[in-house]
Amino acid sequence: MKNEKLASFPENFFWGASTSAYQVEGANLEDGKGPSCQDVKEVPEGTSDLTVCADHYHHYKEDIALMAEMGFKSYRFSIAWTRILPEGTGEINQKGIDFYNDLINECLKYGIEPIVTMFHFDMPAALDKRGSWSNPDSVEWFVNFASILFQNFGDRVKYWLTINEQNMLTLVGPVIGTLTIPEGTTNVLKEIYQQNHHMLVAQAKAMVLCHEMLPEAKIGPAPNISLVYPATCKPEDVIAAQNFNAIRNWLYLDMAVYGIYNAIVWNWLKKYDATPTFAPGDEDAMKNAHPDFIGFNYYNTATVAADDGSIPFDPIGGDQQNSNGIAGMYKSVRNEYLGKTEFGWEIDPVGFRATIREMYSRYHLPMLVTENGLGAYDTLTEDGKIHDQYRIKYLQDHIHQIQEAINDGAEMLGYNPWSAIDLISTHEGMKKRYGFIYVDRDEFDLGTLKRYLKDSGYWYKKVIASNGADL
Ligand code: BG6
Repeated sequence: MKNEKLASFPENFFWGASTSAYQVEGANLEDGKGPSCQDVKEVPEGTSDLTVCADHYHHYKEDIALMAEMGFKSYRFSIAWTRILPEGTGEINQKGIDFYNDLINECLKYGIEPIVTMFHFDMPAALDKRGSWSNPDSVEWFVNFASILFQNFGDRVKYWLTINEQNMLTLVGPVIGTLTIPEGTTNVLKEIYQQNHHMLVAQAKAMVLCHEMLPEAKIGPAPNISLVYPATCKPEDVIAAQNFNAIRNWLYLDMAVYGIYNAIVWNWLKKYDATPTFAPGDEDAMKNAHPDFIGFNYYNTATVAADDGSIPFDPIGGDQQNSNGIAGMYKSVRNEYLGKTEFGWEIDPVGFRATIREMYSRYHLPMLVTENGLGAYDTLTEDGKIHDQYRIKYLQDHIHQIQEAINDGAEMLGYNPWSAIDLISTHEGMKKRYGFIYVDRDEFDLGTLKRYLKDSGYWYKKVIASNGADL
């Protein structure tokens, strides 16, 4: 597929891919690493635990060599808080610092830009015991962790992402295994949005600190953003779509960019006596922080209708891309125009363009795609091949829409789909694969852990080499 009539991808566009520490590294309690909430959670039935994952901790050199073979310009990975600070605060684990130094240096050896996520769903278990994000001290815990990262890696890491999918932590925390509600909580909604508030303040302070400590570096948020459509042109459905857009998307970006709470969300929370309490200085902290770019994950859009009274009060149910709705605000419906993945997520490449356009109109900042991708069952053939034409088609269609959006005037910094390498899904185990690199293991059988480039990996190499001209 060629896109000759459209504007080209910018020079120095970050073609790469993403992973997160707890899903890819394994070695979850090795070399001094402390447990995170992911290591102590109940493993969803029928899925692997997180002790080995893709064993990237021991295979990172081989993995990065394969990324270099595909021509990656960037690799987005996260740093496990508990590898650096096993207890979340206090003593630094030098072996953790050493590992990420090696990983970063290995990327740089091949000219691959490291893009570092500071927090990807892995709260230290020791801090969970101290109340997790409910504890107002969580802001300082995170800022302390951030300062250690900036100090140790800031000489080489120029692109930082604060909190991965804070909106999903807030909206679907239970399915990701991250939600801790202190005993005795009576207003759960208020507690959740208080946690969310602490994360927003922590993010703001980390952005300011980054700019102070590393004037050359760039930092941004990484929420999961996907435009929400009204089911029909019935005005009530349009209001429902605005509600969901406000709750799911704009709350997070209005806060990151402008430091203000979205009015629709604020007034919804007010109804349930659930607005967060501000500590002295929070308002200034949030207003003083400015991201350099918007990082965002996109998987698909959502479609909603007005709630007809059938939606139970459940603002934390569902998964990242599917939920029933929120009572009185919106009801999720199936979009008949879209196909679905084998795992039930709708597929909407054009919605990608629409999402990018909307974000650019609202915030006027450059954007970095930090995730996008197709979770599927892959098969390794006897001659060591993975024919994942379905993934190529998905990525091709989505990249094409980025180019359409660039042609519409959006400023795009890069594309880092999920995932560089097969890893463990948030709640569907190893069988739901996303990688360009296949890892030879099953759900419970650890296999050889040998790596194979999938057909999509060879295809991506060609895309990168042509800077997106040859899809
Ligand atoms: C995003 C997360 O929600 O989507 C990743 O940032 C996650 O951690 C990815 O793996 C795909 O979701 P899932 O549930 O299929 O693993």
